[in-house]
Amino acid sequence: MHWAGRQARRALDDARDKLSAYLNIESSSLVFTSGGTEANNMAIFGCLSHSKPGKVVVSAIEHPSVLQTAEYWCEKLGHQLCLVSPDVNGVILAEDFCAALDEDTVMACLMWANNEIGVIQPVETIVATCREYHIPVLIDGVQAMGKLPMDLAQLDADFVSLSAHKIGGMKGVGALVIRRKASLETWALGGGQERGRRSGTENVPGVVAFAAVLGVLNYQDTQAVRDAFECYLLENMPDVKIYGRDVERVANTSMFTVPDMDGETLLMQLDLAGFAVASGSACSSGKREPSHVLRAMGVPDREARSSLRVSFGLEHDDGDAKALVDELVRIRALLKKMSGR
Ligand SMILES: Cc1ncc(COP(=O)(O)O)c(C=O)c1O
Repeated sequence: MHWAGRQARRALDDARDKLSAYLNIESSSLVFTSGGTEANNMAIFGCLSHSKPGKVVVSAIEHPSVLQTAEYWCEKLGHQLCLVSPDVNGVILAEDFCAALDEDTVMACLMWANNEIGVIQPVETIVATCREYHIPVLIDGVQAMGKLPMDLAQLDADFVSLSAHKIGGMKGVGALVIRRKASLETWALGGGQERGRRSGTENVPGVVAFAAVLGVLNYQDTQAVRDAFECYLLENMPDVKIYGRDVERVANTSMFTVPDMDGETLLMQLDLAGFAVASGSACSSGKREPSHVLRAMGVPDREARSSLRVSFGLEHDDGDAKALVDELVRIRALLKKMSGR
């Protein structure tokens, strides 16, 4: 009721209006969360916990916050999990995904763009089919935001998850878009914030910063550097294989395999040289398991273990791309020499 509280409320409302205008949705459809992970958990638990036992169709290349959450709640609540594999390029074919949908399906989950290989998925066709069959559908939009046009008046998904730190905002803030007053079991009870959908004092600075960075960074501008990197990489290491290069990808991501090298070793050597790259998924770094995305694409484990992922930001230029390739060439030669190959 007091002035300070009203100020915080106004800041939150303004941020909500700005984000909903950006997404072309009603502001009442937005629930702020602590990030993409919470948004995905909220949608999956919220939807599955009140559905009669049925089938849950999920792509096999989802982020762990979707895959593990779906696995967990399916097992707990007696749903049947159906994973749809991608083709060799990392695309979930709309016909494969839609063929898995039937009258027992209680939820479908698919990411807009993959976080490891950057490949863009046919979300429009899949969402349209789910709508036709009245199947609630979650689109993980975390990697698409800021990299692809995001007009949710055109993409009629029930749930879309978002994360601020992928577009230059703060870590620990995100949102779940909930459409058509989709029925969702409440995730966090208590103070009744976010229209009773997510109790807990809101992260006002994080949310305000989220709205402030919308549209500021144009990741399309990273494409020239990413493409230059890949050309230079292939020129200098012709045996390298780049994943998803023949299909539509977001502009800033490159994932590739360096034959006969261990990805983790390359990562550590590059780290010593000042480069921050990932092997497998950055979100689950520290794990020695080969990337589940590459595995689902049919990439042999040995090849997957030799893979690296590079994400370019707007601060990078051709010089950085060239320096990274030069360093990779140097490290590979050194490691080969050391192992007597
Ligand atoms: C596709 C995708 N979904 C969800 C997440 C989780 O988002 P957050 O880090 O905000 O929890 C990530 C994080 O990298 C992601 O890439």
